[in-house]
Order: sequence, then structure tokens, then C-alpha cells
Amino acid sequence: MTHAPATSTGDWSPQQLQAFGTDALERICRHFAALDDVPVTTSANAADIFDGIDGEMPANATEFGDILDDTWNTVVPHLTQWNHPRFHAYFSNSSSGPAILAEMTAAALNVNVMLWKSAPSAAAVENTVTRWLAELLDYPAGDALLVDGASLGTFYALAAARHKAQPDIRNSGTSGQRPGRIYTSDQAHSSIDKAAIALGIGLDNVVRLPTSGTNTLDPAHLSAAIAKDIAAGYTPIAVVATVGTTTSGALDPVERIATVCREHGVWLHVDAAYGGFWRMAPTITRILPSLAAADSLVANPHKVLFTPMECGALFCRHTGALEAAFTLIPEYLRTDTTGGIDYMNYTLNLGRQFRALKLWWTLRAFGIRGIETRLEHSLTLAKQLRNLLAADPRWLLANDSPLPLLCLRISADTDADADAATRQVLEAVNSTHRTLLSHSELDGHYVIRVSIGNIHTTADHIEQLSAELTAAADAVVGPSRSLLSVTATQQEVPAS
Ligand SMILES: Cc1ncc(COP(=O)(O)O)c(C=O)c1O
Repeated sequence: MTHAPATSTGDWSPQQLQAFGTDALERICRHFAALDDVPVTTSANAADIFDGIDGEMPANATEFGDILDDTWNTVVPHLTQWNHPRFHAYFSNSSSGPAILAEMTAAALNVNVMLWKSAPSAAAVENTVTRWLAELLDYPAGDALLVDGASLGTFYALAAARHKAQPDIRNSGTSGQRPGRIYTSDQAHSSIDKAAIALGIGLDNVVRLPTSGTNTLDPAHLSAAIAKDIAAGYTPIAVVATVGTTTSGALDPVERIATVCREHGVWLHVDAAYGGFWRMAPTITRILPSLAAADSLVANPHKVLFTPMECGALFCRHTGALEAAFTLIPEYLRTDTTGGIDYMNYTLNLGRQFRALKLWWTLRAFGIRGIETRLEHSLTLAKQLRNLLAADPRWLLANDSPLPLLCLRISADTDADADAATRQVLEAVNSTHRTLLSHSELDGHYVIRVSIGNIHTTADHIEQLSAELTAAADAVVGPSRSLLSVTATQQEVPAS
């Protein structure tokens, strides 16, 4: 089918949409069918990628088949393939079948979930889905909504916390106010610092307490820091605890931190962007900290629940606290909301996507049992990798998390040698473009991060990954190297 003539008005006809849609979907399916042969990263350089894509503005209509060809021939090969079984960098996540089709449907309906009146049943779906999510997280009823990700979710939560601690700032600004402070650990995500910048709290007022080898926030140090600041005239605004830190998947002791927060009357926000929904995996539910004591909480379906970007969930047990910080209704947005929800009042966003649909479809299509099973599968794969590497004394495991995230390090005589060797191994693995791993620094040491969680990853992929890591270690430190030194925070990769 050819494209409608350039002079015609209106959209594609339903017949065109069907024909082009079938073509587009077929290419997506072909991509998934051949995924194992698709490199995870591109070897092209930036200039070549820009050159391959840049072009004249299309004054006239382009055949849709050509647009698809260009997309699959010049764009897709130079992507980093996040939805790939051998993508283990950052946090390995997934876009699954039901969610892909839901995204398409939401785009077709182009719903704006800002006011009850602008999207009644979409708001109802969001209400239901976020209630389910709260239940899955064992988090009490309150306000709940979907946001683009955890960074903005944390920003909104801290805005609500700040409004509670310093309500005058909403009208009068920060001038003349005591400086507010946020407390967290040196392992917490940079989104907390960004929120402090945006809220006018300032980076100097983000107190990042050292974790000194444990990677977790120490409640006693926290209490002392808050008490000292109160005596010095600061206003504590919030403590941010993390469940699943970015570098190593560490778990802050949320309940003990909550006790400290209660003693000092400080808001507790929990960043469970990564760790939150792993509590759905039955074998680790009980060893993960309860999230129930948090005043506010973020957890990312787009990291764990097989839902594509962008999808974060924000919860606040204090009904109305987010609205107190953000509600502002100009005349043109005044409507009768009786019995409904105006989601625009909870955050900075006015226009909002129908994000809930992709979660509604995914949770129903797989079922909660199906999601639990898939999460357990990733935990099993992480164990498999730990066991495979445990047989090789060149590898050290630098973290100790029940989540499927391994921080690996090559053993060497000195820390400097270990850093250099670990970095070289990472570069060697990534240079093949077959696999993507990322790195971080843990307790001052360079580590390779291996995150497992993509819905397409199988035991075979993990065996291949182990073989690639072994081959890279052979190339960098030689095949017969034995364990030479283990620092206090490092252990030989233990079998599990
Ligand atoms: C612990 C933690 N918090 C927050 C974020 C930010 O999440 P988002 O990209 O959804 O804003 C991340 C991202 O990886 C994270 O690991």
C-alpha cells in the first residue's frame, strides 16, 4: 500500500493503519526472533551515526515502507539494545509483549490523564493499578500515582516533605527561612541531589553520611547528624533511605531508620526504584526491608515489572500531602471532579500520559503469579552466574545483595592492579558488542556491575556470559592466576 498523496488532508485511513501497522509489527517480531544475533551495542562512531541519520527536512510525504527501512537499517543497528538478553549494564530491564501493545493503544487514544473529566476511565485504571502496586509493595493506602521515573518521583516526594516542614516557602520562597536539610547515605542516587538543587535546598544541605564499607545508612550516625543540625539551627526536611542502591543493590535498614525519623519528627522517603518490586519474588520477600513505615516511596515498574520506559510509581501515605505542595488550579482547568481524581494536582505535570494501561495489561496478561515466576527466574540466573564464577579464584564478589546484581572484581596483589585489571576485563567484554556490562566504584574500588533481569535472558545466556568473563580474565591476567589478596569488603565469589 502506498502513502496517501501529499496534498490530502486527514490521517491515514483505518485500512492504511492496518496495513502499515502489520508491516511495523512484523519488523518488531522479526527483531525479537533474531535477537540473539543482534549486537547489544554499535561499533560505529558518533560522526557516522549522525551522518547516517541526518538529512533534509521531508517537505513531501515519504513512503512508510521507506521510513520503516530507514528505522530498521540506520537507527536500530546503532542503538544500545536495552531489551536484549545480553544487556546487563545499569539495571537490566524489559519491555514485554503486553506492554508494547498497550503503549501503541495508549498512543492511539492519545488520552491526557490530567483531570478526571479529561480521562475518567484512564484515571480509574491508574487508581486501580497503583492500588495493586501498593499492595504488592505492602505499602499502606494513601496517594499513589504514576510518574515518568524515580528521579521525579523523589523530587515530588521531597517537595511534599519540604512543604510539611516549611509551608511558607510555597508562597514566600526560601528567603528568611532556616536552611532545610536532607539526609541520606553516600550510596544514594544522584536524583536526591538533583531534587535538592531544584527545590532550592542546595547541594550543601544534602548530608550524605558515609557508609564505611557496609554500603548502608547507619541509623545511629543518622540520628547524631540530625540532632547536631537541629542544635545548629537547620530544619531537617527528609531522610532518604534506599532499598537497592544503584551501585551494589544494598538495602538500608528502613525500619530502624524510620524509628530515628519518628524520634526527630522527620519525613522518611524510601527510594526503592530498583529494589521495590523484587519483593514480589517469594524467596526474597522476607529478607527485604519492609517499606511500610515510609512517609513516601518510589519504585520503578520500568526497572522490574516488564514495562517499558517511562514508568515510575510514587506513593505517599499522607493523603493530600502532594496536593498541598502542588495544587494550583487556574480557571480554565476548573471542573466538577465529584468522586473522581484530578491527577494534575499531585505533581508538576499538567498533561499526563495514560501510563497505567501498560501496567494494567502486563499485570493481567502475566498475572501476579507469572510475574513472581519471572522474577524468581532472574534470581536463579544470578545464582547460576555466582556459582559459575565461584569456581574461579580470580573473581571476587564485592557486594552482598539478594537482588540479581553482582559487583565483580579481579583479584590482584594491590588495589591499583585489581582496579586496572577489572577495568580491562570490562573493556574486553564490552568491546565484543555481544554483551554490555557497566561499572561503578564500591568502597573506593572499581567494580564490574552485572545486572540480570531482562525477560529474554536464559540460562544459556548466563553460561555464555560466564565464558566471556572467563575469556576476558584469561586475556588480562592469564589463565592460571590464583587468588592473592582479599580486602575486608571483598570475598571470593561464594557459591549459592
Ligand atoms: C536507586 C535509584 N534511584 C533512582 C533512580 C533513578 O531512576 P529513574 O531513571 O527512573 O529516574 C535510579 C536509576 O537507576 C536508581 O538506581
